[in-house]
Amino acid sequence: MTADMRQTRRWWERAVIYENHLPSFRDGNGDGIGDLPGLVASLDYLSEVLGVDAVWVGPFFRSPLLDHGYDISGYDDVEPVYGTLADFDTLVEAAHRRQLKIIVDYVPNHTSDQHPWFVASRSSRTNAKRDWYVWRDPAPGGGPPNNWTSEAGGSVWEFAAGTGQYYLHSHLVEQPDLNWRNPHVASALLGVLRFWLRRGADGVRIDVAHMLMKDPEFRDNPPRRSPLANRYDIQHPDFAVQEHVHDRRHPDVFGVLTEIRRVVDEFDERVSIAEIEGMPWDEWAAYFGRNLDGVHLPFAFRLIETPWDAAALGREIDGLVGATPPGAWPVLALGNHDRQRLATRLGPRQARVAAMLLLSLPGTPTVLYGDELGLADQPVPEARQRDHFARRKGGISRDPTRTPMPWSATAPNGGFSDADPDDLWLPISVQLPAVAVTSQLNDPASMLELYRHLISVRRKSPALRHGTYRRIDASGAPPDVLVYERRDAADHKVVALNLGADARILHLAVDGAVVVSTRPERSANRIADIVELGADEGVVIDVDPDSEEHHQ
Ligand code: GLC
Ligand code: CA
Repeated sequence: MTADMRQTRRWWERAVIYENHLPSFRDGNGDGIGDLPGLVASLDYLSEVLGVDAVWVGPFFRSPLLDHGYDISGYDDVEPVYGTLADFDTLVEAAHRRQLKIIVDYVPNHTSDQHPWFVASRSSRTNAKRDWYVWRDPAPGGGPPNNWTSEAGGSVWEFAAGTGQYYLHSHLVEQPDLNWRNPHVASALLGVLRFWLRRGADGVRIDVAHMLMKDPEFRDNPPRRSPLANRYDIQHPDFAVQEHVHDRRHPDVFGVLTEIRRVVDEFDERVSIAEIEGMPWDEWAAYFGRNLDGVHLPFAFRLIETPWDAAALGREIDGLVGATPPGAWPVLALGNHDRQRLATRLGPRQARVAAMLLLSLPGTPTVLYGDELGLADQPVPEARQRDHFARRKGGISRDPTRTPMPWSATAPNGGFSDADPDDLWLPISVQLPAVAVTSQLNDPASMLELYRHLISVRRKSPALRHGTYRRIDASGAPPDVLVYERRDAADHKVVALNLGADARILHLAVDGAVVVSTRPERSANRIADIVELGADEGVVIDVDPDSEEHHQ
C-alpha cells in the first residue's frame, strides 16, 4: 500500500460503526418501543461519549414487524411506530451536524406478504406482478417444487391454494422472496436504493446480499456432509440438514451487486456493506467484485463463527488479511442482532478481550448496541416474544439478544422508555442497575470505559486504523495467546491477547508501553522484552521507536 492510498482512505475505512437496533434503543414517545426520535436523542452519547463514527440503523420501513422490520410492506416510508419521514430527515441532519454517518438497512431479497406487490402477485397467475416473486408448480408427484429448507424452519415453499402454485420464502412464510431475474424488480429495488441515498443516507447495509440469486433450475440441495449445525448462528435445525448450494450464492449474484454498487456510486461518498454468510475467504473476497466494482465492505462473518481459540482465530485472521484484494477493506463484527451476545457467548471477562480484538484488527469494526456495556442475552418469556422465527416448532428466538438498551441506573425501565414495564417492546435487562450507562461512565473498571478507551486509541493510531497486520509467533507462547502487530510508518503497536484463564509470560523482544489493558487493575505499564499477561488479559503495546535497534 502506498502512502497516497493511505491518505485517500475513505470515511468507511477509518470508521467505527455502531449497530443500533431501533425498537430496542430509546423510546421517544412513551409507547414502549424505540423509535427515530429516541435515536436522535441518543446521538450525543454515540458521538461524544462512545466516539463512534457511523450508526447502522435497523430497518424502520413500513412493516407488520414479524421479523423486526425485515418484512417490509412499504419501502419508501417510515413505519409509524418508528416515526415519520420528517423524523428520518431530522436524524440525518442531527447526525451530520455531529460528523456521524447514517447507514440504513436495504432489504432487497424479500418483502412482507402484506406488500402491495405481493398482494397483486398472489391474486392471479396473469397479474402483471406475478413474476415479481418466485412462483413454481408443485413437484410432478405433488408437494413442494424442491427440497430447500428455510432458516426459519420447514420448506422454503408455501402453497397458495388460490392459484395452485408455490411461492418461495427463504425466511418466514410471510417474507416472499423477490425475483431479481425480472428486470422490473431490479429497477424498482434500485429505485428504493436511490430514494434513501437521495434522502441523505450515507450508505446501506444490504440484507442477505448473497441470497439475491438462486439456481435458475431450482435443483435440490444435497444432504449435509457434516452433521454439525452452525453453532454460532441462530437458525432453525431444519436448515442444517442440507448444503445450501442452490438456494443462495449463485454466481449471478455478483452482477446484481455490481448494479447496486453502480447506483451507490451515483452519489458522493456513500458506502455499500453486504451481509453475507460465513464462507471460505477466497469466496468472501469475490464480493468486492472483479475490479473492486462489487460491494465496498463485505461482512467477514467467518470470524464470528470461529471458535474462541487463539490458534483458530489467528489462522482465520491470516486468511482474511491474505484474501483481501489490494485496495479493498473488510468490515468486521464479532456478533450482531441475530447471534448470541459476546458477554453470553464468551463470558464477561473474555468479552473484554473480544472488544480489544475487534477494535485492533485491520477492517472497519462494527459494535452491536449494548455490547459496549457488557449486556448479556436475556431470556424472554414466551408470552412476550416478538421474533416470529421462534414460532415454528424447534425455532430459536433472537429476542434475548435484542432487549432494550439500559441507559440509566435510576430512571424507570433503565431510561429506555416511560411506558409501563409490561408494555415494553421486550423486557429490560436484569443486569440493571450495574449495566446502565450512568453506572459505568467514569468507572475505570467498566466495560464502557474500556470501549471508549479502545475507540479513542484506535482513532489516534494510524497503525490500528489502517496499518499493516502481521501475526507474531511469540517464542514459547502458550496456545491460548494471540499476538499480532499493526504498523503504519513510525506508529507501531503490538496486541497480545490472553484467551485463557491462566496468567502467562511472553518473550516478545519489544520495548514499549501498555496503552490499554482489559484488566483495569494492571499497574506495570513499561514493557521490556517480557510481557506478563494476567488471566483473561489483553494489552495494546505502543512499541518504542528504537525498540528494533535494541533487539537486533
Ligand atoms: C438478515 C437479518 C435477520 C433477518 C434476515 C431476513 O439475516 O440480519 O435479522 O431475519 O436477514 O431478513
Ligand atoms: Ca416509541
